[in-house]
Amino acid sequence: MIEKEVIHKLIDEAIKARAYSYSPYSKFKVGAALLLKNGKYLHGCNIENASYGLSNCAERTLLFKMISEGYNKDDVLFFAIVGQTERPISPCGACRQVMCELLNLDTPVILANLNKDYLEYTVKDLLPYQFNEGDL
Ligand code: THU
Repeated sequence: MIEKEVIHKLIDEAIKARAYSYSPYSKFKVGAALLLKNGKYLHGCNIENASYGLSNCAERTLLFKMISEGYNKDDVLFFAIVGQTERPISPCGACRQVMCELLNLDTPVILANLNKDYLEYTVKDLLPYQFNEGDL
C-alpha cells in the first residue's frame, strides 16, 4: 500500500492536469499524472476532436508524453487518473491495453474523483489476460 499523502499529492497533480483538458464535445474533463523515480511528475489530459473518434484520453496522452520525453515503464513509480465522477473514474478498455504495454504490470494505478475518493489497483488488475508481445 502506498502512503496516503503520496496518493493525495499524485491526485492533486492529476487534478492540475485536468484543468488543461480540451473537451468541448463531451465537456467531461479528465486528468492523469505519474510520479517518476527521479521525483518528477508528468501530466496528461483528454484531448477531443470534432471527428469524435480521434479524441485521446488523458491516460494515453500522458503515456505517449512519457515515451516521447525519453522515459519508460521502469522509470515510473505510480500513476493516477481523476475525473468528476461519483465513484472513482474507470479507465476505458483502450487505455487499459496501452497501460499494459507502456507500464509495468505491477505499477500501482490510483483511480480517483474530485472528492479524492480513490481505489488502488495495479495495471494487471485492470486488464487480466492481456494481449501482449508474447502473443505475436
Ligand atoms: N476519458 C478519459 O480521458 N479517460 C477516461 O478514463 C475516461 C474517458 C475521456 C474521453 C473523452 O474525451 C471523455 O472522457 C468522455 O468520454
